[in-house]
Amino acid sequence: MDGATPWGGQPDGALLIDDGHIAWLGAAADLPAGLRVDEEIHLDGGVLLPGFVDAHTHLVYAGSRAHEFELRLQGASYETIARAGGGIRSTVAATRAADEATLLALALPRARALRAEGVTTLEIKSGYGLSEADEARCLRVARAVGAATGQTVRTTALPAHALPPEYAGRADDYVDDACRWLAGWHAQGLVDAVDAFCETIAFSPAQVERLFRAARALGLPVKLHAEQLSDSGGAALAARFQALSADHLEWLSDAGIAAMAVAGTVAVLLPGAFYFLRETRLPPVQALRAAGVPIALATDHNPGSSPTLSPLLTLNMGCTLFGLTPEEALAGMTRHGAAALGLHDRGRLAPGLRADLVHWAVDHPRELAAAFGQRPACRVWIAGQETRP
Ligand code: NIG
Ligand code: FE
Repeated sequence: MDGATPWGGQPDGALLIDDGHIAWLGAAADLPAGLRVDEEIHLDGGVLLPGFVDAHTHLVYAGSRAHEFELRLQGASYETIARAGGGIRSTVAATRAADEATLLALALPRARALRAEGVTTLEIKSGYGLSEADEARCLRVARAVGAATGQTVRTTALPAHALPPEYAGRADDYVDDACRWLAGWHAQGLVDAVDAFCETIAFSPAQVERLFRAARALGLPVKLHAEQLSDSGGAALAARFQALSADHLEWLSDAGIAAMAVAGTVAVLLPGAFYFLRETRLPPVQALRAAGVPIALATDHNPGSSPTLSPLLTLNMGCTLFGLTPEEALAGMTRHGAAALGLHDRGRLAPGLRADLVHWAVDHPRELAAAFGQRPACRVWIAGQETRP
């Protein structure tokens, strides 16, 4: 997945791991002579790929929103449910009521399910606490998930996800407070990046800009839920702050694309949310390609808009719903996913990079994007260590 040749790849390949990193790779016939290794693993066919990087998840939460799925099937919209106090706010109530141990017990099987489909690195956002203490709790749980599963977890603070009820009618006060909280969370080592939901039902570009200024003043990178349900110019705003990524993007404009291309902001597409909310407006994939904007794909796992834990299904939907090629979809879940998190030590197979590897029992990687609702057998290594289910 180095992007150099279509499908790249090394038939009958071999790879050496040293100290958690890829030390060498090439044709098995070219293995350095006289090599002494501690352990030799024969994979007998199949395909070895970089571990998947799921660059957008909301994995830490309590409660279910399946009843909202029923309401939407009866004609209610995501926006109407949100404005009536459901949506994100209903998950906030359930998450606030759960203690830290419970949140961890709920999040761990989700992370393990992702790992069982090859995810070795994932981003976890807060955004269901929406108070200084509750957001910190969710971020601590996110860190604990990584410690427990061995996956790299990148934490993203998302206090500007929805307006909590105690701030009703005082969105600007809430944003001011969230800016202050950020410094405390950052001081506790809880934050790798800062995100917001820029949307008519969430926060305005001016409010997002204030949060971004606070983040950048702390040296934290930003990313944005942008142009999911309407065009509020969020992607261009994010690009002005050198955002790592702008995510969703169904309503992205040409100006947004141009700004992202200049800033090097990754487009993270989330077909799970598009599918589950039965959206019809497609992200401008062809224009993103033409502008050279890197395209990542992520599960967006969350209880309200994308309750999937399947990166493989996400690959398939990236192709069937958004028109990505299987190769683009796989690059989106590996090297462009890594770029969306600001990680340049993974997402490809190359000497010096982390040995985050997945061996799939398929004959060609395109099969991972083609089949859906199936899980070919896989073995997963994180920093050179094989994981056990
Ligand atoms: O990525 N768009 C905002 N945030 C989530 C949905 C959160 C929810 O509905 O609970 C998303 O789709
Ligand atoms: Fe999201």
